[in-house]
Amino acid sequence: MGVIARIVSLAGAVFVLAGCAAAPKDELVDKRCRVARVAEDVAAGRTVPMDALGGLGNPPLVLMSSGEIEAVANCLGPALDAAIARSADATIRTTRGWRPASRTYMASEHGMFLQVFANAAAAEYLKYEKGARLPQGAAILKRSFRVAADGNVSAGPVFVMERMAQGYDRTTDDWRFAVTAPDGALMGESGGRDAAKVAFCAGCHKSAQVQDFLFFVPPRQRVGS
Ligand code: HEC
Repeated sequence: MGVIARIVSLAGAVFVLAGCAAAPKDELVDKRCRVARVAEDVAAGRTVPMDALGGLGNPPLVLMSSGEIEAVANCLGPALDAAIARSADATIRTTRGWRPASRTYMASEHGMFLQVFANAAAAEYLKYEKGARLPQGAAILKRSFRVAADGNVSAGPVFVMERMAQGYDRTTDDWRFAVTAPDGALMGESGGRDAAKVAFCAGCHKSAQVQDFLFFVPPRQRVGS
């Protein structure tokens, strides 16, 4: 019941995409990009076990097949691109064309699905744990969408980490953390506006300090895996 209660409270916060330009032919999602099967799963109590993410954080809301993930990502494409194009964060606005570091969107907490991208200066990030410390100008981004308990989907926030000039922030080894909402509004930026709202980013990423504050994409999701 705890999981369901959390699901329901989250579903309220999610705006439902009011129509999608091109529904994929395979019909895994309907015209609103909705995944009807998800609602059936949740109603039947088929929820995801706590250890689904290796014990880190909360479980994803629902299990989705790779076909369903791809269908939603395609259907939501225009909304996901718009979240980038109108972002209040100048770095996020430059991210079209960055290289993917995860093969596709991967299940994360609270029904969120994430895909990771790296800019040219962050080329070493694509070597994962074997990469060198990332240089100034390196930036890594996560695009996201959410799948609610009723199967409705929506574009999610965009997360970015950017290595700033030396001396920017000694506590984060000069990483800047920022997150923007699907409508492009800035939700918070470390060292900038609403910094308190994103203090938890550095708080968690600090536990990966030995590998440059980076957690990396899980091995089976990596490009080329
Ligand atoms: C509870 C821990 C936790 C918090 C809080 C957190 N992250 Fe992460 N972050 C992770 C984990 C684990 C990964 C790797 C898996 C993934 O991508 O989901 C990650 C990956 C990332 C990446 C890709 C780079 C990497 O580390 O491999 C970016 C960018 C990122 N997070 C930004 C943020 C921002 C911005 C915030 C705050 C709004 C934030 N994170 C909050 C745990 C966290």
